[in-house]
Amino acid sequence: MTWQATALTLFPAMFPGTLGQSLAGRALERGIWSLDARDMREHGLGRHRVVDDTPFGGGAGMVMRPDVVAAALACIERAGRPLVYPTPRGRPLAQADIRRYAAGPGVVVLCGRYEGVDERVLEASGAEQVSIGDYILSGGEVAATVLLDACVRLLPGVMGSGESAVEESFADGLLEYPLYTKPAQWDGRDVPEVLLSGHHAAIARWRRAASETVTQARRPDLWAAYQARAGQDTPRTAGPRADADRLN
Ligand code: ADE
Repeated sequence: MTWQATALTLFPAMFPGTLGQSLAGRALERGIWSLDARDMREHGLGRHRVVDDTPFGGGAGMVMRPDVVAAALACIERAGRPLVYPTPRGRPLAQADIRRYAAGPGVVVLCGRYEGVDERVLEASGAEQVSIGDYILSGGEVAATVLLDACVRLLPGVMGSGESAVEESFADGLLEYPLYTKPAQWDGRDVPEVLLSGHHAAIARWRRAASETVTQARRPDLWAAYQARAGQDTPRTAGPRADADRLN
């Protein structure tokens, strides 16, 4: 069964964009997922196909009209798919959401201009409002691309088993350990000795410690949650201070 993505947008030419390349692009060609970009302008009003108007109460920018968005939504076969509205006002999009979307039949993504969509149509349609970070994009299309990319890589058959391990490593709530490849010496810098040792248990311990160090340094929010989950146990001492410095 093909995982179905629909994007409602004023800029259909922005799709598939980067999703037409590499992993997602190959999966699209193989029919593992499909992408239908619908132009909401087709539902605009009058000769000029107007889709927005000024905000009630005053203020800058334009707001997308609820009647226009509703007309666009009425033409979509939702078929059990969640409607997702990327917006900086949304709750933070998390890997758990991505897993849930990827496990279902697909998603419908409503791409607004950043001033936003009239709240009533979001309420009436049961849209999930999600943010991809605390910054303002010029529209929802890039956020939709981020969301779809994250979903597609989880679809069965898209990634090899080696790559799926990365998902596991994020699942325990820590950032990933640093990666190294050949040459073992580069520009006066050595790869950490233990990674060359072939000692799998020691390597696993080093990686776990490095993950803890980098998470503690960069993401105190994830670190606090990890410690709380560890049942108030003091987690293993993180790796050498030199690692923490390098990772900062
Ligand atoms: N649209 C504009 N900015 C956004 C953001 N940070 N996240 C999701 N959608 C957006």
